[in-house]
Amino acid sequence: MKIDVFTLFPEWFDWFYGQRHVRNSVEAGTELRLFNYRDSTPLGGGQVDDAPYGGGAGMVLRVDVVDAALSAAYADGREPSRVLVLAPSGRQLDETLARELASEPHVALLSGRYEGIDERVRDHLATDAVSIGPYVLSGGELAAMVVADAIIRKLPGALGHADSAVEESFSEALGGAPEYPHYTRPASYRGWGVPDVLLSGDHERVREWRMEESRRRGDGTTE
Ligand code: 6GU
Repeated sequence: MKIDVFTLFPEWFDWFYGQRHVRNSVEAGTELRLFNYRDSTPLGGGQVDDAPYGGGAGMVLRVDVVDAALSAAYADGREPSRVLVLAPSGRQLDETLARELASEPHVALLSGRYEGIDERVRDHLATDAVSIGPYVLSGGELAAMVVADAIIRKLPGALGHADSAVEESFSEALGGAPEYPHYTRPASYRGWGVPDVLLSGDHERVREWRMEESRRRGDGTTE
């Protein structure tokens, strides 16, 4: 799979791309690429943004700048199957969307800074607008990393243990419910114990207990 990130701050991704599971995924064949809007801007002086029509604070990433970046990146004709603009008003990322994206051959993530991105990007250049939650971040970079991470951990090679992505939170194996609680040594710490069933060695009971805990978390009867 290919994941392309468009940004004004490619250095933000240095840390992310250095993480073990991301490197593993790249070694297993995932292609991650970064594009800086500034490298392909048709405007002078590296300009990428402008004041909003109608007035107001902040600057808006220009549609011609984004279009030029996409044209430069895909001059070879290998266009992405999904082009996501990251925006707080977009479709909220969840496990269903993450799974959907992980099954695409090629995804582009468009991040914007400042006040936002010209709406014509969303209307004419992107296939989707995606948000990572109901709050406003100062730019799409962190959101792009969250989306990329949610995709990458579903791809072959990212996680060390083949099963860890299967039975994790919200997966089909758990009927879409959040994951069950985990415990490790010590069995008692400051008087805080571990559920007896987990120490019983009875794998069938352990499995039933985990499914039940997962269901309880899913219907809001815990916490
Ligand atoms: Cl995708 N962008 C920004 N700026 N803020 C957000 C977001 C995206 N998702 C949640 N908050």
